[in-house]
Amino acid sequence: MSSQSDRRGFMMSGAATAAAWAAAGRPGFAAQPSSATAQPMDRVRVGLVGVGSRGTWLLSLLLGIEGVEVRAVCDIIPERVAKAQEKVAAAGQAKPQGYARGETDFQRLCETEELDLVVNATRPWKWHVPICVAAMQAGKHAATEVPAAETIEGCWQLVETAEKTRKYCVMLENCCYFREVMLVHNILRQGLFGELRHCEAGYQHYVGRPRPATTQRPPEDKVRTANSYPTHPIGPVAQWMDINRGNRFDYLVSMSADGTGGNRRADINTSLIRTARGQTITLYYDTKLPRPYDLIYRVQGTRGIAMATADRIYIEGRSPKPNTWEPMETYYKEFEHPLWKELGERARSGGGHGGGDWLVVHRLIQALRTGAAPDMDVYDAAAWSCITELSEQSVAGRSRAMDFPDFTRGRWETTPPLGILGGE
Ligand SMILES: NC(=O)c1ccc[n+]([C@@H]2O[C@H](COP(=O)([O-])OP(=O)(O)OC[C@H]3O[C@@H](n4cnc5c(N)ncnc54)[C@H](O)[C@@H]3O)[C@@H](O)[C@H]2O)c1
Repeated sequence: MSSQSDRRGFMMSGAATAAAWAAAGRPGFAAQPSSATAQPMDRVRVGLVGVGSRGTWLLSLLLGIEGVEVRAVCDIIPERVAKAQEKVAAAGQAKPQGYARGETDFQRLCETEELDLVVNATRPWKWHVPICVAAMQAGKHAATEVPAAETIEGCWQLVETAEKTRKYCVMLENCCYFREVMLVHNILRQGLFGELRHCEAGYQHYVGRPRPATTQRPPEDKVRTANSYPTHPIGPVAQWMDINRGNRFDYLVSMSADGTGGNRRADINTSLIRTARGQTITLYYDTKLPRPYDLIYRVQGTRGIAMATADRIYIEGRSPKPNTWEPMETYYKEFEHPLWKELGERARSGGGHGGGDWLVVHRLIQALRTGAAPDMDVYDAAAWSCITELSEQSVAGRSRAMDFPDFTRGRWETTPPLGILGGE
């Protein structure tokens, strides 16, 4: 979109937006994107690459979900492979094939095994694109831990491979399933906030304290003067704003505060994003300075505002006192998201980030089993992940404006919004 009037053409009224949301896809799931398809399957045969801390946790979740068979596990550390194999066997499944012949052995896994899905939970992140690409090229769907890619080029590789192979490539963005995030989603879609105009979110998590040598993050995960971990905050915001589904990220400007003590690593990175509908987003990356954890999740419309992690909401004409916060807690009774209403108990007992971890895995497996499109697709993975390189380039150029690539190649205009995600 180039002109302001074109942009305004994409601003929908609250009622029109609600109607479009309601009409999106079959109940409970998004419409099938044209790039990928899958027949329903009774069981989902999974290969897991990277069984460190996150991978082992994902393995526990997968083993607790009906219809999942873990057929293969891969890591560069043979002991981790052996441990994962034991874990699968202890859960009553056949011992999965192990792959531990080095950094590219995932290729052999993808080519040898009969699988429906390859799940990637490796670190360093440079392996995420090669593993997903190898999976899709071998005819498997790919699911990856965050971020899906470190570079714009990597994002394009994922998009092009998914389109060519017609396989899904899903980034497992668990924050999209947080209870308060989905509550906000539901309130928004009932029209209470009016027109959505601004969001604010951030990965604000102090991970900068010295770590023991064995758990040091590989250097490439931390040296960039950029927003190097954008997907947890931007995922929910993108879904609220219908990004890639009637709306898109237009451009970004970014600025970093200098690191302390002559350290060239930025202390805090702040980016501003403008969407095709003329909305704005403030996005923080703040992991180096002491602070409590907070993703913020502010959503601001023409009639109301919520600060989700602070449990505060104000809806004009509904909140008891004018211009005064009320706790968001009171809204759960009326507006609890249908997914949480139905699956909240299971999600909570499944565990991990308040249930978000269980839900992200459950929803993907459920989509594959029913033949529906997963909630998140390769275009989401690309649009959310590319923020790292865009912010890096913007910072390097004195906050120059960086256009977002349109990974959908125009399809964002006609792709319907996510429906209100139902239970099963
Ligand atoms: N969604 C979330 O909330 C969340 C939380 C934590 C971590 N993560 C993500 O999960 C991923 C893994 O993080 P982690 O904390 O488990 O790291 P980790 O270091 O504990 O585990 C990574 C594993 O990958 C293995 N590995 C590395 N290169 C490999 C290769 N080429 N082939 C096979 N195995 C390889 C390592 O040996 C290790 O066992 C990262 O992308 C991270 O950002 C996401």
